[in-house]
Amino acid sequence: MEDRFGHRISYLRVSITDRCNERCTYCMPRELQEWLPREDVLTYEETTRLIRIAAELGVSKVRITGGEPLTRRDVLSLFQRLTSIPGIDDIGLSTNGTLLSRCSRRPVGDAGHKLDAGSGASHSEAATETMAQALRAAGVNSVNISLDTLDPEVYAQTTGRDYLPQALEGIEAAIAAAIAAGFPQIKLNCVLMRGRNEDQLVPLVEFAAARKLLLRFIELMPVSTGDVLHEDNFLPVAEAGRTVESRYGALIPEPTFRTNGPSSYYKVPGRDQRVGFIGAMSNLHFCESCNKLRLTCDGKLRPCLGSYLEFDIMKVMRAGATDAELKRFFLDVVERKPEQHDFRESYQPGRMMVAIGG
Ligand code: 5AD
Ligand code: SF4
Repeated sequence: MEDRFGHRISYLRVSITDRCNERCTYCMPRELQEWLPREDVLTYEETTRLIRIAAELGVSKVRITGGEPLTRRDVLSLFQRLTSIPGIDDIGLSTNGTLLSRCSRRPVGDAGHKLDAGSGASHSEAATETMAQALRAAGVNSVNISLDTLDPEVYAQTTGRDYLPQALEGIEAAIAAAIAAGFPQIKLNCVLMRGRNEDQLVPLVEFAAARKLLLRFIELMPVSTGDVLHEDNFLPVAEAGRTVESRYGALIPEPTFRTNGPSSYYKVPGRDQRVGFIGAMSNLHFCESCNKLRLTCDGKLRPCLGSYLEFDIMKVMRAGATDAELKRFFLDVVERKPEQHDFRESYQPGRMMVAIGG
């Protein structure tokens, strides 16, 4: 699939729930959140069908997001379905990490609020499989974990929950699963917020280095309503880069190193470490290499995160569309993919990030 501007679409980000066990200020507004009714959310069968059709059109990579995807019931069964789709050779997950260290057989429930408080010593199963291990076994080969700060108070302020210990345990569980079975890629995502986490950039670089994880700094995007999305809170990647450089010396650009996304990577001098910068707002060439399409949990195809455009594929599917008709639908959406996002222009959020998929 290729759009009018030569973007070749090979990557589908799929949100499977609008629910989350956290409340990040940049993702959800503070007011009471109303979840989508279950019948408005694509079933796993429907999601799998749409991904299969996308794969037939050239998509080879999917990333499952939310909300927090691990709050959705029986999520492992979705990954098992995805691994059997011909053409999909890369299955990723974006998560806040808080549920990765849990026992994989323990139901979370859609709310997902109840996290293990203690060490789990009351569990008799000594060798319980963690969610991270189960995901790996189910075919997930890349995990992106959000981590904006290592400070518990700032974490709680930012996410609305004091789950930093669980997030850190989740990161360790992912690493343990990686060592046992090989996650080719674990990435840490840090959303940059002035006045919140600029003092955390160097500690996060150290944290990532000690664990050999790939850290990326992401510019805050105006995808949600709320006071955090104010210019006063915006911290450009260039400034974050300077902060990192003041500690480590000049970062060495690595233009040839690419993951699947829009991040620019740099080597930390004198170390075997890379850090990434996702300058969604300040990098004017940000959209040039876009290879993405998004599917929201309520069945809308979105050609661009930073645009109002969305097309209801669930409606046509539920009305009985054939595979050929759904394919046509995908191609029509791609045809309307904009050249670039309009975050810098006039974009007013029509939807919260949690309902789009981060
Ligand atoms: N701006 C930038 N990144 C965001 N994310 C969520 N909301 C925003 C936003 N407004 C990120 C999360 C996570 C990923 C899924 O999306 O931090 O790393
Ligand atoms: Fe949940 Fe992630 Fe949104 Fe935070 S950014 S509220 S963890 S979906």
